[in-house]
Amino acid sequence: MNTVAAAEPPLVALAGVTKTYGSGSATFHALRGVDLEIARGEFTAIMGPSGCGKSTAMNIIGCLDQATRGSYRFRGVEITGLTRDQRARLRRRYIGFVFQGFNLLARTSAQENVELPLVYRGHGARERHAAARSALAQVGLAGWEHHTPAELSGGQLQRVAIARAIVTSPMLLLADEPTGNLDSQRSVEIMDLLVALNRERGITIVMVTHEHDMAAYAARVLRFRDGVVVGDERQPGTPRAAAAPAGAAEDDAFAARAGA
Ligand SMILES: Nc1ncnc2c1ncn2[C@@H]1O[C@H](COP(=O)(O)OP(=O)(O)OP(=O)(O)O)[C@@H](O)[C@H]1O
Ligand SMILES: [Mg+2]
Repeated sequence: MNTVAAAEPPLVALAGVTKTYGSGSATFHALRGVDLEIARGEFTAIMGPSGCGKSTAMNIIGCLDQATRGSYRFRGVEITGLTRDQRARLRRRYIGFVFQGFNLLARTSAQENVELPLVYRGHGARERHAAARSALAQVGLAGWEHHTPAELSGGQLQRVAIARAIVTSPMLLLADEPTGNLDSQRSVEIMDLLVALNRERGITIVMVTHEHDMAAYAARVLRFRDGVVVGDERQPGTPRAAAAPAGAAEDDAFAARAGA
């Protein structure tokens, strides 16, 4: 039945995407017509100068924000025009987001921070506890469940943020400067973790970074400038996820609704 994977549409496809902030003389064009496609299983880095629209593009891809014009297809389904609720459901089901800065709740344990996306998805307490413990273990934080952010180092906070992003087993992990606040040793550890999530679990990763050393971990580098994509390079020696992505053949509600 589901043996022909080649027909699978790109996980992410932006075509002519613009994003305009403000109006009148205060209008600012953050994205001026972005075209890009990301296939399932890829590990892509996005680079470009500050203010060129990287976070704006990530927020649109992550369904946190909407394009002003253009088309965004996720697994072949048009996202532009969906309601806020529909986008939220899509995000919770398929996407994990590691924000620029950690965005963790301050007086809340690592465990509870990681459980939060599962609360939104309506999972019961027992299931949440188990999934959060497992996600924290995967990022090397077994034993740190009950520490609050104030009791954790920068590298550990970033790990908690990644655990929170992967606790729902997302298809797509978006990471906006995941090593921006870390020293080089901690940065390498985070990159090794992202590579493992990509290769071993087949999670598609899009990561914004300013650092060439970090972009070197990705199989592909997209370059942004002034709100458009100006470069797209494959990097040798960084294969796509070897394993078949988890759930590749799943016939889920999303595909059904899409008529796929
Ligand atoms: N909500 C907003 N309202 C108005 N302008 C915005 C808004 N968000 C972003 N911008 C502007 O859009 C442009 C692109 O911002 P964006 O955050 O995408 O840049 P970036 O490439 O992520 O930069 P950095 O590397 O500094 O994080 C910037 O000039 C920014 O000031
Ligand atoms: Mg940014």
